[in-house]
Amino acid sequence: MFKIDIDNISGKTESLYVYGEKSILTELEEHNVLVEHSCRQGHCGTCILQLLAGDVIHEDCLVPLSRGEILACQAKPTTDIKIGLRSF
Ligand code: FES
Repeated sequence: MFKIDIDNISGKTESLYVYGEKSILTELEEHNVLVEHSCRQGHCGTCILQLLAGDVIHEDCLVPLSRGEILACQAKPTTDIKIGLRSF
């Protein structure tokens, strides 16, 4: 089981505990943390989040990512992680 710490835009940190079998986007949705998204297939880049600590694995990723970015719809945690939500 992995812990996902989420730094939200108001500066608070929430923690979720997940098995790492589902995408981070799905896990966040199931815990009522809403993340902007569109294709859910690794194509559009709408779901990019910041990875502040830990490691993830991407299933499919057709979007060029900068260092420290992850695609929430394709990434699964492989360690405890900390992510930052983007402000829109
Ligand atoms: S929702 Fe399109 S890449 Fe994640």
